[in-house]
Amino acid sequence: MDKQPDVVRTISDLRARVAEARHAGKRVGLVPTMGALHHGHLSLVDAISAHADMIIVSIFVNPTQFGEGEDFDAYPRDEKDDLNKLAPTAASLVYAPTAQEMYPEGDSTKVSVADFSERFEGAHRLGHFDGVATVVSKLLMQCLPDIAVFGEKDYQQLAVIRQFVKDLAIPTTIMGAPIVREMDGLAASSRNVYLSAHERQTAGQLNVVLSKLVDDVKSGSPIADAEKHASQSLLAAGFDAVDYVNVVNSATLQPLTTLSAPARVLAVARLGAVRLLDNMAIEAP
Ligand code: PAF
Repeated sequence: MDKQPDVVRTISDLRARVAEARHAGKRVGLVPTMGALHHGHLSLVDAISAHADMIIVSIFVNPTQFGEGEDFDAYPRDEKDDLNKLAPTAASLVYAPTAQEMYPEGDSTKVSVADFSERFEGAHRLGHFDGVATVVSKLLMQCLPDIAVFGEKDYQQLAVIRQFVKDLAIPTTIMGAPIVREMDGLAASSRNVYLSAHERQTAGQLNVVLSKLVDDVKSGSPIADAEKHASQSLLAAGFDAVDYVNVVNSATLQPLTTLSAPARVLAVARLGAVRLLDNMAIEAP
């Protein structure tokens, strides 16, 4: 039977294990997660395994990145199941701190990335990226990994993380890993479990509509028309609302009106209370 990774819950235990690994000449890799692990997370472990000898998975449902009325209390938590899922992987340590360890009494420092954090997801989830940037900075400082991996599914999150890691000169390489998709192309997400059977069927149309937008833009359709058409198609497919569908510069996330730079389409569509995120690269034709 596969061995589950060991679990540490304090910064000092984590640092002792990291120091041991470094002493043995190992490169340390970190996979930050909020648990509720699915094959998307396991693919992150897989992706980092080519670049690290000791892989740590952090599991922490970070309260500061959830807004009022969001699903912090309901967010799926099952550490036993997460450890079982990690057993056959290359992860050898889980860091699962308590909220007190992460945000001890008197904690008053926030990491905030201007501009990147204010558009798209930032405009819909006020303070969300400050919460993400703060907890990821803490995780990187606590663990001091050589490399950390984040999924491209949260593309804006990845851009925010790359920015503060550069600005703060944190000596960790940030690696992006491709989106993992279900059979019908729906991007894997811990929140997909909230979808009813009917909503789950509709959800599979998001990537279909975005692929069509990518093809349209590549074959010369004006970007504004393609964005509008994609929003209309999502509503016609049964989505309850479209928060945004925007073609942006893939490095700066500034909206594009022509394909003048490597581009990405970012989108969020809603089914009931569930916001489904997706994004795709648009390579220049
Ligand atoms: O992407 C996530 O699961 C979270 O935002 C992260 C990066 C683990 C920070 O809490």
